[in-house]
Amino acid sequence: MTESHPKITKAVIPAAGLGTRFLPATKATPKEMLPVVDKPAIQYVVEEAVGAGLNDVLMITGRNKRPLEDHFDRNYELESALARKGDESRLAKVQESSDLATMHYVRQGDPRGLGHAVLCAAPHVGREPFAVLLGDDLIDPRDPLLQRMVEIQEQHGGSVVALMEVAPEQVHLYGCAAVKPTGDSDVVEVTGLVEKPEPADAPSNYAIIGRYVLDPHIFDILRKTEPGRGGEIQLTDALQQLAATYQSAADAAGKIGGPVHGVVFQGRRYDTGDRGDYLRAIVRLACEREDLGPDFKAWLRSYVTEEM
Ligand code: UTP
Repeated sequence: MTESHPKITKAVIPAAGLGTRFLPATKATPKEMLPVVDKPAIQYVVEEAVGAGLNDVLMITGRNKRPLEDHFDRNYELESALARKGDESRLAKVQESSDLATMHYVRQGDPRGLGHAVLCAAPHVGREPFAVLLGDDLIDPRDPLLQRMVEIQEQHGGSVVALMEVAPEQVHLYGCAAVKPTGDSDVVEVTGLVEKPEPADAPSNYAIIGRYVLDPHIFDILRKTEPGRGGEIQLTDALQQLAATYQSAADAAGKIGGPVHGVVFQGRRYDTGDRGDYLRAIVRLACEREDLGPDFKAWLRSYVTEEM
């Protein structure tokens, strides 16, 4: 466990991936900018970080990612046009994203993997624990997860990953955790991790999803982490080393970096980088909206009964 527990204030959002599963939409547009109902996916992610008290947001971007920066910046032309028209509600919508958080950006020159993207955050983060939210992973705003992870990190120190139980045939799509129970029913201790295992090699059906609270010692490990699966520097490999070092060290001095815990998430989550999940996210969130939901649900009901 780390000696002190500084308050977590920084969120890192890696958004430099190529988004190849969504081509051609992502040829010139970042996948994180694809709209989910009427907001880009990334705005939900930044809102989630702010909702958990993390107002300092560092986004890891790359080529073709300028729209991400523009979205969280002022747009004076649009704002003054809406102000001239007296369209206060749309003006508020435009200003919402630029007033949300203190935004910072760093570019990952080459997308060398999630671990490498997280390492790009080291100069900004310094030696404090910090959160990582994947820019294409959307946690339903009604099922808060990050607050609980921050709470567990403050309680135990070390790092915390988000886990979700998936069907055995899905395990090969995720990082997978070996776990042991703790006193809390929604929290496990992570004893090992494997990136995208074959079903026979999977230590459990607990899959890592895109939220992490990390001890800064992860940067020291990432600097030495060799490319792994897919030739990419994998965050899961660095976390595996963190967990293994903690598990194998007998004395406190060897337990640098602290334990790795997992919060088991049972809420709604969408991988907006996957076309099917993206469509499900839009339908679900549109149905729940007060302004659009009633009409949309009525249409959906008749579509399903008449057309399918
Ligand atoms: P994905 O595995 O979804 O990769 O990355 P991807 O390249 O974005 O998408 P596909 O598979 O080609 O469609 C998981 C997260 O890590 C970020 C991505 O932006 C995404 O949020 N990432 C990945 C980086 O920031 N840099 C990288 O080098 C790789």
